[in-house]
Amino acid sequence: MNCTLTEEQELLRKTARDFAEKHLKPGVIERDENAEVPLAQMKQLGELGFMGIMVPEKWNGAGMDTVSYALAMEEISRIDASAGVMVSVNNSLVCQIFLDWANDQQRNAYLKKLATGEWLGAFSLSEPQSGSDASNMLTFAEKSNGHYILNGTKNWVSNGISSDIVIVFALTEKGIGHKGVSAFIIEKGTPGLSTGKKEEKLGIRGSDTCELYFENCKIPKENLIHEEGSGFRIAMKALNGGRIGIGAQALGIAQASLDRALEYSKERKQFGKSISSFGIIKSKLAQMATNIDASRLLVYRAAMLKDNHKPYTKEAAMAKLFASQTAMDASRDCVQIFGGYGFMQEYGVERLMRDAKITQIYEGTSEIQELVIARSILEE
Ligand code: CAA
Repeated sequence: MNCTLTEEQELLRKTARDFAEKHLKPGVIERDENAEVPLAQMKQLGELGFMGIMVPEKWNGAGMDTVSYALAMEEISRIDASAGVMVSVNNSLVCQIFLDWANDQQRNAYLKKLATGEWLGAFSLSEPQSGSDASNMLTFAEKSNGHYILNGTKNWVSNGISSDIVIVFALTEKGIGHKGVSAFIIEKGTPGLSTGKKEEKLGIRGSDTCELYFENCKIPKENLIHEEGSGFRIAMKALNGGRIGIGAQALGIAQASLDRALEYSKERKQFGKSISSFGIIKSKLAQMATNIDASRLLVYRAAMLKDNHKPYTKEAAMAKLFASQTAMDASRDCVQIFGGYGFMQEYGVERLMRDAKITQIYEGTSEIQELVIARSILEE
């Protein structure tokens, strides 16, 4: 595996890092406290090409690869994991579906705006009774005179409030399991679609999450993506790529934890010396650094496989599983090294621990990643 980044990838990483330091760091603690979404920064990220990193220039994207996407996700999430998830959903769940499955008419109407950040996208698969068991959905899209009429409830929709369009998965045929699922493009403001309250969350509080309600929501048949019955495949394929992005988000949180722990442990003196001189602290720092490097290699490997059009389902699941555990461990140890200060909001490390948790839950829980990995190695 070639671990050297190209000049273009290095430049993208630097641009993302500089942007995050300059435009996301200011106010990050306040946005977390007040649950405020960095919408202005999303527009700026769009102008820089970060909302459609893997979208070809023909569709107004940056035309870069998945490794570049992972680099951007790490750098943005190192400073603000809430901004990270907004970028992630728009890139790997929404734009990627348009690239892989939509027709040119749909790409012209939607992808061009999504890739520049003019519009923000959301992805809506889960329902109150179906999280991990994703195909067990109830939302139904009934075909009627050149339209579909949707009825049902979706939940945990990231970007649900701020988005302009949502890719929604609904049954077009009942009783045939995942083969009855179809994917639709639904514009916000469509009569019959309403959003629930902004959810109060443990972490990534600077991004919005809500329920969506469909009550006789009428959408044109042209808004069906690909064909009836292909929705589950569309969702699963998008989530494979999405898991690389969440792995990179977790990597950013873990790296921030290590950066802060290194800085603090060198400064903080107890018993007459820097706490970094104590073996017990060195051990924590060494474990963090090693797990972060291992996570980075797993994330890059999955991204490279995707870029080379090789199978990467198992590798993306491994990257997300390991990087999200690393983010939890590193952020917990960072808080521990900071001691009482770590527990205080103003030092900004307790947020890392709260933000890390969701990386073990969304886009497939750690238990689902283990299932995906186990199924794959048992078949090999
Ligand atoms: N990649 C490609 N295809 C896949 C796949 C994958 N990872 N997983 C399953 N499939 C395909 C199978 O090959 C099968 O296809 P065929 O019908 O052609 O044979 C079909 O999908 C059905 O698969 P299974 O029989 O394995 O389905 P299952 O119901 O037993 O289990 C699952 C599937 C892996 C558990 C799946 O439901 C899953 O991944 N669940 C987790 C859902 C998830 O990640 N939700 C995240 C919500 S969105 C989100 O979090 C976004 C956000 O807010 C940021």
